[in-house]
Amino acid sequence: MGVVWKGMAALAVTVAASIGGAQAATISISCGAVGQELQLCTDGANAWAKATGNEIKIVSTPNSATERLALYQQILAAGSADIDVYQIDVIWPGTLANHMIDLSEYIDEETVGQHFKAIIDNNTVDDKLVAMPWYTDGGVLYYRKDLLEKYNKQPPTTWQELTDTAKEIQDGERAAGNDKMWGFVFQAKAYEGLTCDALEWVDSFGGGTIVDADGKITINNEKAAAALTMARGWIGTIAPEGVLNYTEEESRGVFQSGNAVFMRNWPYAWALGNAPDSTISGKIGVSALPKGGADGKPTGVLGGWQLAVSSYSENPEIAADLVKYLTSAEEQKRRAIQGSYNPTIEALYKDQEVLTAVPFFGSLYETFVNAVARPSKVTATKYNQASSEFFNAAHDVLSGKAEAPARLAELESKLDRLSRGGRW
Ligand code: GLC
Repeated sequence: MGVVWKGMAALAVTVAASIGGAQAATISISCGAVGQELQLCTDGANAWAKATGNEIKIVSTPNSATERLALYQQILAAGSADIDVYQIDVIWPGTLANHMIDLSEYIDEETVGQHFKAIIDNNTVDDKLVAMPWYTDGGVLYYRKDLLEKYNKQPPTTWQELTDTAKEIQDGERAAGNDKMWGFVFQAKAYEGLTCDALEWVDSFGGGTIVDADGKITINNEKAAAALTMARGWIGTIAPEGVLNYTEEESRGVFQSGNAVFMRNWPYAWALGNAPDSTISGKIGVSALPKGGADGKPTGVLGGWQLAVSSYSENPEIAADLVKYLTSAEEQKRRAIQGSYNPTIEALYKDQEVLTAVPFFGSLYETFVNAVARPSKVTATKYNQASSEFFNAAHDVLSGKAEAPARLAELESKLDRLSRGGRW
């Protein structure tokens, strides 16, 4: 009921805001708040408001994608008009399609066609363009250039090399007086971020993507078990126990305060790590994540966020105009330069100002375009449950509650029940 009341209040503001006879509206947008997201979203939305005479209401949402989805589902299930524009994860179009309008009715084909086709396909459910791509993401490895140089090391190409280098530098730095130094930080809290990290380990070992493109459950295999067992070995040795409760921002906190040699994170951490107030500004290198072994491959998981308009919005046309503005090349360029958010428009990867601000958008271009998708397309509305089963299993292994082979066998049967015998 509270949600409905707030919706009515928003409507009252909308009517009051009519400018010079033409109806202006207040559009409410949910923005993430990881790193600089909230600021960049607010600035962009306000610029649109100024240019169009509309008003903006910013709704800040939880950092954890898992918690954010729960909040969205609650608001959407109530049919609430409280939020017009939703920032949605690359894995959610299938889950949220029924609550969003078809943006192809408001945004022309040419504009849509500027974006990576794979993301447009991902965001299209039953011929409906559920969301416009805003920024894409790929998991990458951050390292301390200065420390690698000091210890005469190269950026690691296999996880074993990473483990050894992390340990050597961690031990050396601790002996030299920094007892807070750790070798490697990443995301291992039981939430969507762990699905990304663990899928990277598993796929880099050749252990597949949990469920394959045909819907077959593939996770119960030796390579996947070896990958998770390897990661279990990091906890308390090269990674703090606390990593079991880290999301992106906790990892960045440790790395950015100078207390980790390596970090797995998304590109947004680059701009912040190199900001004038960062203790490690200018000392950061970025590479593709390591391979599982000599016959493995480097895998970065595909992430990223889209903008969608709620079917319950009172002003879908105006809301779609905001989406068009925020996802435009100009805005994506601004966000790339200021916040190292990956554009979804191919042409921007050849833009010199973008490449100067974030050189690895050029050097790791292949990593981004070949990033491995989580199985959200095939599991569709059941993705969130399937992912929860996976991250809980991975968390049990990492925290020593279970051994990988047995836990993956259990996961397989849970996923099998969820898929009702193979049909998702
Ligand atoms: C990043 C990614 C998103 C992913 C999330 C997990 O925000 O862009 O796709 O689900 O991290 O924490």
